[in-house]
Amino acid sequence: MALVRQRSAVAFLIAILQVADATGSCLDAGEDCSLRDAAAEAGMRVGAAMEPSHFSDPDYGPVLALEFDSLTLENSMKWQATEPVQDNFSFAHADAAVAFADANSMTVRGHNLVWAQARVDSTPDWVEAITDPDELRAVLATHVQTVVGRYAGKVDAWDVVNEPLETAGTALFENHFFQVLGPGYIAEAFALAHAADPSATLFLNEVLISNGGPKFDAFLALVTDLLQQGVPIHGVGFQGHYFGPPDPVQLEANLRTFADLGLIVEITELDSLLRPGPDLASRLAVQGDEYFAVARACARVPACARITTWGFTDRYTWIDSFLGPGFAPLPLDVDYNRKPAHTGLRNGMLERIAPTAVPVWSPGWSIVAWLGFSALGTFRLREPGRRDAN
Ligand code: XIL
Repeated sequence: MALVRQRSAVAFLIAILQVADATGSCLDAGEDCSLRDAAAEAGMRVGAAMEPSHFSDPDYGPVLALEFDSLTLENSMKWQATEPVQDNFSFAHADAAVAFADANSMTVRGHNLVWAQARVDSTPDWVEAITDPDELRAVLATHVQTVVGRYAGKVDAWDVVNEPLETAGTALFENHFFQVLGPGYIAEAFALAHAADPSATLFLNEVLISNGGPKFDAFLALVTDLLQQGVPIHGVGFQGHYFGPPDPVQLEANLRTFADLGLIVEITELDSLLRPGPDLASRLAVQGDEYFAVARACARVPACARITTWGFTDRYTWIDSFLGPGFAPLPLDVDYNRKPAHTGLRNGMLERIAPTAVPVWSPGWSIVAWLGFSALGTFRLREPGRRDAN
């Protein structure tokens, strides 16, 4: 009964917000403005990672379509999902998401074609078993042609290679494609994707490049080299998983560095963990400041075209299984209520058209708190009222 009441309340709220959104400018509408309308007004796009399996939750689809004008399949366009067995393609989930996007005037980011880190949900074992270069090349070509070809004109951007570098290092990650084909596998994958859909924007997507340092330098060198080789790379994706506090000054500088090379830049997988703090309200406020700072960094760079959050409701976040529950890293809470992170993301995007004098956020005390938090290791705080997704 309580659940039914809550769902009707969400439906009612959505109806009110749709009316409010239709009537005025986001700069005036404040809390009534959706992320989607704010992005449109700012001349940007805002997306979320999603999975059609959650459509059975009746609030999931309506809130997704209300708040976002772009989506990314969280897992269902990865190789393991699309070609779990050689030449046996499976597109049910990806097709459902693309149809949903089409019905709701959303664009789709394709994620991803090659992600050969040894992890779940990426490259299937049968691919990893191929040691003959010609055979692996043929398999890569079939995969890219089939997946990209199927969604040509429907998926506007592809993460062609995901996480080419070592997670915590500076060298190319020696994944299976590297081992069998050599470092040229990246250029080969881009060429195949470009041939399969010449109109798609092709991205190299990487984690932990928001800050300066050796990994950023190595990534810049890699992209520069690909451009010099004439590889059809059009964009760079900054994943934006903020396990620690963001540094917005450095992020903006790094985005500009790639924009200056003529590339599109995007924040492709934004989420920001709740930091420790005296009470939930202040922790949510810090998270809101972080979302604002990241969104503003993107908004200030004309080539930064889209911000995608990795999920959108704390009801379904990969962080729960990756790090454990309680980090609540997304803009909507487990009941789809807007959090300060929603306000921050929305206002950050609006900085593109109406810059304010809000000082650049400094990680300040939250860095110190985070260091202490990391040292404690298992210290996790639970968000009051959280209920399990399952
Ligand atoms: C994650 C998904 O969110 C999880 O459900 C899955 O089990 C593993 O992959 N960087 C990426 C994403 O590029 O594809 C990852 O997604 C999160 C980290």
